[in-house]
Amino acid sequence: MAEEKVLVTGGAGYIGSHTVLELLEAGYVPVVVDNLHNAIRGAGGVPESLRRVEEVTGRTVEFEEADILDGAALRALFEKHHFTAVIHFAGLKAVGESVRRPLDYYRVNLTGTIQLLETMRAHGVRKLVFSSSATVYGAPRYLPLDEGHPVGGCTNPYGKSKFFIEEMVRDLCRAEEGWQAVLLRYFNPTGAHPSGRLGEDPQGIPNNLMPYVSQVAVGRREILSVFGNDYATEDGTGVRDYIHVVDLAKGHIAALGKLKENCGCKVYNLGTGTGYSVLQMVGAMEKASGKTIPYRVVARRDGDVAACYADPKLAEEELGWKAAFGLDKMCEDLWRWQKNNPHGFSATA
Ligand code: NAD
Ligand code: UD1
Repeated sequence: MAEEKVLVTGGAGYIGSHTVLELLEAGYVPVVVDNLHNAIRGAGGVPESLRRVEEVTGRTVEFEEADILDGAALRALFEKHHFTAVIHFAGLKAVGESVRRPLDYYRVNLTGTIQLLETMRAHGVRKLVFSSSATVYGAPRYLPLDEGHPVGGCTNPYGKSKFFIEEMVRDLCRAEEGWQAVLLRYFNPTGAHPSGRLGEDPQGIPNNLMPYVSQVAVGRREILSVFGNDYATEDGTGVRDYIHVVDLAKGHIAALGKLKENCGCKVYNLGTGTGYSVLQMVGAMEKASGKTIPYRVVARRDGDVAACYADPKLAEEELGWKAAFGLDKMCEDLWRWQKNNPHGFSATA
C-alpha cells in the first residue's frame, strides 16, 4: 500500500487513541490534531495516550496541538501534509454539561466541524469518517435500532449537535461532487486496549456507567448509583449495547476502506447487537476484577431510555466489520487498564 496519511482530529482522546493504534497496525500514517481539552499532557508536551500508543506499537505518531476552531492552524496542517482522508473525533461529549452550556457545544461541535470541512475542501480532501452516536435515534420506537430508524428526536444539545452534523455532511455530499463520508453511530464504547497501557481516562466524576463502575472496583469511588430499577427491562435497570473500544476502533479502518469505493454518504451502526442491563454490567465487572462493587438504586436520570441496542447487520454486509469481543473480554481489558492505571494517565490523583 502506498503511504496513506490520515488526519485524526481528537486523536488523543479515548476512542481516537485506540483508532490511531489500529491505523498504525493497518499501515496507515496517522497525524493527530488535538487541543488537549480532554487529554493528559505527558512528557515533552505529547499527550500521554499517544506516548503509550508509540510504546505499544514501536512507531511514532505525528501530533499537532491545535484547536479545530483555529482556521490558520488547520490550514497549516493541510499545507504540510497530503491527507487522503480525515477521521473526525474532536468535540465535546458530556450530555449534562451540554444542557448547561449549549453554545460551547454548538461552537465546538458544529462550528469546529464546519471549519474542518471548509479546510478539507480548500485542500481537495473530501473523504470523511465522522463519530456520530446512537443518541441521534432519540427514544427508540422499535428495537433493535437499524439505520432506517427515524433520527433527530434528541433532547439535549450534545445529541442535537451530532444530528445536525450528520445532516450537514449529508447535504454537502449531495451538493458538491467528490465528497464521500461514513457516519458511524457508536453504541456504548467500553473496555481498553489489551496491553493495559491505553484506556478511558475521564476527568472528574465519570458521567458514564463503565468508567464509574471500574473506579468503584479500584477503590477510587465508594458506591455506584444505579439510575432507576423500574424500567420495563428484565431486572428493571437500563439496557445498553456495550462495544469493546478495540472493535470500535477497527470499525474506522473498515470505514476508510469503504471511502475508497466512491460511496457517497453512508451511515452505519457500530454495536454488537446485544444489550446488557446495569446490573449485568456490575456482575460482569465483579467477575473480571474479583471485587465487590457496592451500589444503591437512586432515581432515574433525566433523558435516559429503558433500552437501546443496535442492529449491526448493515456494517457487516457493507463494511465487512463485526464486533469480535464479548462482555467478559470488555470487562477483563477494562479492569487490566484500571488496575494498572488507577489514576488513568496521571501518576497520582
Ligand atoms: P474524548 O473526549 O476522549 O476525545 C475527544 C478528543 O477531542 C479529546 O482528546 C479532546 O481533547 C479533543 N478536543 C475537544 N475539543 C477539541 C477542539 N476544539 N479541537 C481539537 N481537539 C479537541 O472522547 P471520546 O470518547 O474519545 O469520543 C470521541 C468522539 O466520539 C466524540 O466526538 C464523541 O462525541 C463521539 N462519541 C463518543 C461516545 C462515547 O461513549 N465515548 C459515544 C458516541 C459518540
Ligand atoms: C449516555 C448519553 C448519550 C451518549 C452516551 C455516550 C445520557 C442521557 N446519554 O448514554 O447521549 O451518547 O452516554 O456513551 O447521558 N447508569 C447508572 N449509573 C451511572 C451511570 C449510568 O445507573 O452512574 C446507567 C444509565 O442510566 C444507563 C446505563 O447505565 O441505563 C448506561 O449509561 P451511560 O454509560 O451514561 O450511557 P447512555 O445512557 O447509553
